Amino acid sequence: MTKKPKDSIVIMTELVLPNDTNTFGNLMGGRLMYWMDIAAALSAQKHCNAPVVTASVDNLSFVNPIKLGNVVHIEARVTRSFNTSMEVMLNVWGEDLVRKDRYKSNTAYYTFVALDADGKPTPVPAIEPETDEEKELYNGALRRRQLRLILSNKMKPGEATELRRLFEKG
Ligand SMILES: CC(C)(COP(=O)(O)OP(=O)(O)OC[C@H]1O[C@@H](n2cnc3c(N)ncnc32)[C@H](O)[C@@H]1OP(=O)(O)O)[C@@H](O)C(=O)NCCC(=O)NCCS
Repeated sequence: MTKKPKDSIVIMTELVLPNDTNTFGNLMGGRLMYWMDIAAALSAQKHCNAPVVTASVDNLSFVNPIKLGNVVHIEARVTRSFNTSMEVMLNVWGEDLVRKDRYKSNTAYYTFVALDADGKPTPVPAIEPETDEEKELYNGALRRRQLRLILSNKMKPGEATELRRLFEKG
């Protein structure tokens, strides 16, 4: 059965407490990545209704620190499914409720693989993007997949036709 990206939306809200921070009073990157991993895994599971494991995480750049006492908003959704794997996009914001200031923390892509009862990769439903933004993310997911498979030695650069097309355009 084909699914829509909106079927897999997960919104997670957390409060940054003292135990979540570094010595500068900012949220630790590792704690944020842990929350992101959970939100993304739930999103992938909503898509495939099967247990999933994290296969990879693309590069992650923290644009703004999230302060102690601020709120963390994480929004996750599946952008594209392949055979047994799914790309999940995460958008993360911090929010200072006292100053009424909401600010971007990062955008990231996680890849999950669905597993069957024997722990082997198992096929996931196809996805049908609806909005222009969803279609753009869907198309870009193929290039991002090729790049991450090259970086993890699972694909030869010569096989990455979609990625090469990006450079050939100039
Ligand atoms: C992810 C995992 C299931 C892939 O198993 P595998 O034996 O390499 O299986 P395959 O080669 O058949 O690949 C299965 C899918 O994973 C994808 N995949 C494998 N490595 C990947 C990577 N580094 N990045 C993105 N996707 C990857 C493949 O592209 C394939 O997707 P597709 O079926 O949609 O084409 C396996 O490596 C694993 O269990 N890793 C540990 C996961 C884990 O424990 N995560 C938590 C962190 S401790």
